[in-house]
Amino acid sequence: MTSLIVILALVAAAAGLLRWRRPAWFWLTFGVTFAVLRVLIRYGSVMDACGLTVPAARWRLGLARMTNRPVPGPRAPRILRVRPTRTGLVLRIKLRPGQDAFDVTASCDRLRHSFAMYGVTSRELRSGVVEVRMTGYDVLKRVQMPALTDTRPMRVPVALREDGSVHFRDYRTVPHALTLGATESGKSVYQRNLVASLASQRVALVGIDCKQGVELFPLARRFSALADNPDSAAELLEALVSHMEDVYQLIRAEQRITADVPDAGVAADIWDLREDLRPIPIVVLVDEVAELALFATKDEEKRRDRIITALARLAQLGRAAGIYLEICGQRFGSELGKGITMLRAQLTGRTAHRVNDESSANMAFGDIAPDAVLAAIQIPTDTPGVAVTGDSTGGWARIRAPHTSLRQAVNICNRHADLTPDVPALAPFRPALGAPAPALVPAVESAPAAA
Ligand SMILES: Nc1ncnc2c1ncn2[C@@H]1O[C@H](COP(=O)(O)OP(=O)(O)OP(=O)(O)O)[C@@H](O)[C@H]1O
Ligand SMILES: [Mg+2]
Repeated sequence: MTSLIVILALVAAAAGLLRWRRPAWFWLTFGVTFAVLRVLIRYGSVMDACGLTVPAARWRLGLARMTNRPVPGPRAPRILRVRPTRTGLVLRIKLRPGQDAFDVTASCDRLRHSFAMYGVTSRELRSGVVEVRMTGYDVLKRVQMPALTDTRPMRVPVALREDGSVHFRDYRTVPHALTLGATESGKSVYQRNLVASLASQRVALVGIDCKQGVELFPLARRFSALADNPDSAAELLEALVSHMEDVYQLIRAEQRITADVPDAGVAADIWDLREDLRPIPIVVLVDEVAELALFATKDEEKRRDRIITALARLAQLGRAAGIYLEICGQRFGSELGKGITMLRAQLTGRTAHRVNDESSANMAFGDIAPDAVLAAIQIPTDTPGVAVTGDSTGGWARIRAPHTSLRQAVNICNRHADLTPDVPALAPFRPALGAPAPALVPAVESAPAAA
């Protein structure tokens, strides 16, 4: 008896310790069983208390009256499936007549408290069927990506959503994206995750990093072209535009539309071309985009106009030529001059890390998902990497990328360095490899003087 009590006490202590230090392990060992039991046992009463039940059908009431049986009580949505996941539970329910998906969405917070879960979200799968996703713990606190994800060409996992699902960056459906955020909010780490995920794919990476290259140059072995200042950025973007024109010439040459070519055989973008002819897709990553749009002199203004024109052309025409833009910056609004809002309108994918004011959040979401603006402003300062992501469908979600250090990203890029393609049009911008020359003179005034 005593030994049983000791064992139980040890198990309870281990569960408590796990729950405190390793919530993900606690969920997989104890949490998931408790949660399934809790949801199944309390389901009817919780739905009733949350106002998610409907009175019994009239024919049932009539039948009960005729047969002198007890009057049937209100009915909750029917559970179609309960699926435990790595981070929580997924409940699929069939609504009763008279209910709608919005009723469930409006009750998510009440369900969260009633089932003692960390988060609850819902979405309509098809008419009358709603999926309720619950998380057992704060999955964004310490992001752990699942080992196996549904990665496909040009579709890479980049972050975890707050409902525990993986957030993918899919270049085929959302070709261009804008990532905004205040300084130290996690933009570069997000971009680094993208590079690390894309590194193993058949894709050419092109980087423009006006912070003198500190973020992207360490990853140079996997980059086909890099620019670290606005002058070389302007030339690089113009080279990309001429590459794009060459790709369109190739597609035109391959179209050869005649009556006997089947519909599927007519190429309108690079993905319709035969694999041996298909030019390699290019992802252009721009960090600190505002640097490209600022100018002080007349010459710099001309350079700025060249850059913005080239970016706008790539954003408008690049997709079918397999050129995708990934733009990061602190702000990206009309105060950066003409052409910026036109360019922004082409960037479908929007992600906002923590921002300091509403107008910055408006630059990301004002024109697509106004309620995401509030969510972006509310991101606390002590959780760098947490972001709100939306798309043109009006939906949005909170996400956080895993904390990939520069060292880890460098290792991944070096491991896949042999996949770095040579794009002839971009050859002059291929980064020179090898250790940078050591600085002979300390460049910082506060450096101690040599003895
Ligand atoms: N997803 C994350 N998880 C945990 N920590 C993160 C995450 N993203 C960023 N951080 C932390 O925040 C710090 C700043 O991140 P990052 O350099 O990406 O910010 P930034 O928005 O690019 O800032 P800046 O505008 O100054 O370049 C990182 O050094 C890292 O410690
Ligand atoms: Mg940065």
